[in-house]
Amino acid sequence: MNSEPTGPDPLDTVPADIPVHGRRGFVTEVDTTQFPDHGMAAEEAYELLHTALMLDGRETLNLASFVTTWMEPEAETLIHDTLRKNHIDHEEYPAASLVEEACVHMLGDLFNAPDPAEVVGVGTIGSSEAIMLGLLAHKRAWVNRRKAAGEPTDRPNVVFGAETHVVWDKFANYFDVEMRKIHMKPDRYVVTAAEVEERIDENTIAVGAVLGTTHIGEADPISEINDMLVRVESEKGWDIPLHVDAASGGFVAPFAHPDLLWDFRLSKVASINASGHKYGLVYPGVGWLVFRDRSKLPEDLVFSVNYLGGAQPTYTFNFSRGSAMIQAQMYNFLRLGRTGYESIVANTMANAAHLNEKLAESGRFEILNPGLAEPVVTFKLTGDPGFDVYHLSARLREDGWIVPAYSLPPDAEDVHLMRIVVRLDLSRQMIKVLLRDLHKAYEDLQAEQPTQRASSKADLWTAPAHAAAHGKARMGLHN
Ligand SMILES: Cc1ncc(COP(=O)(O)O)c(C=O)c1O
Repeated sequence: MNSEPTGPDPLDTVPADIPVHGRRGFVTEVDTTQFPDHGMAAEEAYELLHTALMLDGRETLNLASFVTTWMEPEAETLIHDTLRKNHIDHEEYPAASLVEEACVHMLGDLFNAPDPAEVVGVGTIGSSEAIMLGLLAHKRAWVNRRKAAGEPTDRPNVVFGAETHVVWDKFANYFDVEMRKIHMKPDRYVVTAAEVEERIDENTIAVGAVLGTTHIGEADPISEINDMLVRVESEKGWDIPLHVDAASGGFVAPFAHPDLLWDFRLSKVASINASGHKYGLVYPGVGWLVFRDRSKLPEDLVFSVNYLGGAQPTYTFNFSRGSAMIQAQMYNFLRLGRTGYESIVANTMANAAHLNEKLAESGRFEILNPGLAEPVVTFKLTGDPGFDVYHLSARLREDGWIVPAYSLPPDAEDVHLMRIVVRLDLSRQMIKVLLRDLHKAYEDLQAEQPTQRASSKADLWTAPAHAAAHGKARMGLHN
C-alpha cells in the first residue's frame, strides 16, 4: 500500500499538444488494486475508459436483455439536462418530484385503477426494488391485521411460481417470509390457480403472478388466480392480495392486448410493478410500483424527513438518486401517448411473430411460447442435431449477436432453450440477417458435430458465481 504519492504528477509533465494516444496512459497498465496517486488529463481518462468499454457486447445486438437501448435525441437531451438533480430533494426540486407523481397517476389510468387520482406509488430504480417494496407493504398490512385480531404474526408466507424473477426469492430471504414456490412442469411453464390455492392459508401475505415471465415471456393465468382468491375470501375470510409482476408486460399488454384482464380491473390486484426501462422505453434506472389505492400502503411504512427543507413522505429503499430517468419516462408518456406506444408495440409484436414463424417453419426449432404475450421469442432445438443451444449461442456471438441459452428451473430443468427479446431497435432487416446467421451457425455445427457438453453451460442465471468469476478472470481480477 502506498501512503505517499510517488513519481511526478503527469498533469504537470504532459505537454498539452501531445496527442492522447501518444501519452503514457496508453502504454501503462492500470493497477486496479491501488487507488491512483495522481490524476490524468480529462481527455485521456475519457479515452481510456471509452475504449476499454468496447470490450463489452454491443447494446443493440444484446437480444438477451429487455432493457432499452435506444431513445430519441430529445429524450437524451432531457436526460442530460436533469443529471444534476437529486430526485429525493422534493423541496428544492418540486417540479421534478411532481413529474414522478404524475407518472404514477398516469400509470394508474393505464392499468385501469378504479380512480387513477387515488392510486399511490413510487418511481424506483427498477422492478426489483418495486417488487420488494410492494411485498413489504403487503407483509406489514398482514401483520397489522393479525395484531389487531390478536393472532400470531410469526409465520408469514408468500406464494408464487418458479417462472418469477429471482427478486421474489430475494424478498422471501431478506424479509423472513416463507417462500412457497410452485415448481414448473416439464411441459407447462406457468402456474395454475389450483396450484396456488393448494398453498395459500391465513398466513399468506400475498400471491404473486407474472405478466411476461422471465424465462419464457408468457403470462400466468392472472384472472383465474384473482377469481380463486375472491372465492377463497368469501369461503374462508382470508383477504389475500395479488401482486402482479408486470416488469416487462406492463407496457405491452395495455397496447397489444387491451382486453386481457390482468390489472386493477381485477378486484384482488392490490399492486403492480412495471419496469420503465424495459418496454416503458427508458434507459436503465427506472421502475414503477403502483398500489390500487392508498389503503393498500400501510401508513406506518411511509417516512417523513424534514432536513432537506419541508416535510417529505418517502417509501423507497434508496434516498439520493438521479431524477433523469423519471423525467425521461414522462417524456415518453407525453411524446408517445397511447397511440405512439401502440405503434411501437405493434411493430415489436409483428417482428417477434415473424421470427417465431420463420424459426418454426424451418423445422429446426420448436417455439415454446407461440401465444406471444409479449415480443419475446423462446425456442429449443428440434430433436438432436448433434450440438446444443449453448454451441449455437456461442457461435452467434462470433457474428456479434448476444442470444442467451439456458435451462429452465425445476421441474423443467431438462428444457434447454434460447431467448430473443425483440426491442424497438431490432428491425425486420436485422432479423433477416439474424436468421441467416442462425441458420449458417446451425449448418456449420451440424457439419462439425462438436463435442457435447456434459450439461448446461454455466451462465448468469444457472450459475451466477461461475459467470461472474469468468468475467473477472478475463479482466485479470480475482475473487
Ligand atoms: C418478470 C420480471 N420481474 C422482475 C424483473 C426485475 O426487473 P428489474 O431489472 O427492472 O429490476 C425482471 C427482469 O428481467 C423480470 O423479467
